[in-house]
Amino acid sequence: MEVIISETYEEMSRLAAREVARMLNSKPNAVLGLATGSTPLGLYKELVRMHKEEGLDFSQVTTFNLDEYVGLTKDHPQSYHYFMHENLFKHINIPVQNVYIPSGTTDNYRAFCAWYEQRIREVGGIDLQILGIGSDGHIAFNEPSSSLGSRTRIKTLARQTIEDNARFFEKIEDVPVFAITMGVGTILEARQIILVANGEKKADAVARAVEGPVTSMITASALQLHPDCTVFLDRPAAGKLQMIDYYQWVQAKQPGAPKT
Ligand code: F6R
Repeated sequence: MEVIISETYEEMSRLAAREVARMLNSKPNAVLGLATGSTPLGLYKELVRMHKEEGLDFSQVTTFNLDEYVGLTKDHPQSYHYFMHENLFKHINIPVQNVYIPSGTTDNYRAFCAWYEQRIREVGGIDLQILGIGSDGHIAFNEPSSSLGSRTRIKTLARQTIEDNARFFEKIEDVPVFAITMGVGTILEARQIILVANGEKKADAVARAVEGPVTSMITASALQLHPDCTVFLDRPAAGKLQMIDYYQWVQAKQPGAPKT
């Protein structure tokens, strides 16, 4: 894993967005995997800026979101459909038919999950997957003890996640208990992965994901098995990394590294 540490959230978001732009410039019809939550908001803001000011083009891009709450309709203000529309899609030129987000209201989850996986395969797989990380180390909604080979399915959210996400709802009882989520196995098939994390609250999970053993108790640790995964952090989120000096050394030496 490559670890890139920034002084601020804004800088972290800019560097991560630059990676997405690099992908779109080399492959205009790239397939992106998208996350929701607070963390990627800065990244999406930067992509919108690049679209408006620099002409970053999404007209041939296809996207697949990681997850959705079960029971929330597309127009529910806390649904991930709503989040994506408000924070990204309505500001860029992506065709609506190229946007895929798991359904939280299907009457056949099993069939929907199989179809979602099949659509990802049919478009050629995900080129670049964007991830956040939960304070319990989850990626998407793959809570501790999720199989590292898991595929898109329904998961029961951990208490910790419900508490963390209660900030978006009026009261904690309103946070859905179930979500439909890509599996760890689904995520690992993306050709490139970037994970973004900011704030001290994520420092433990980040350290365990990057430097701890690979374990289903921290599903983000499975990213250690991925050949092309970059972790973008702000300084507080990097605060518990043992190898921080090495990551910064690598970062500083990068401009002189042989081109691969
Ligand atoms: C959301 C998702 C989750 C979040 C994680 C962190 O689509 O997949 O794994 O990335 O819960 O959420 P924030 O960024 O709100 O701290």
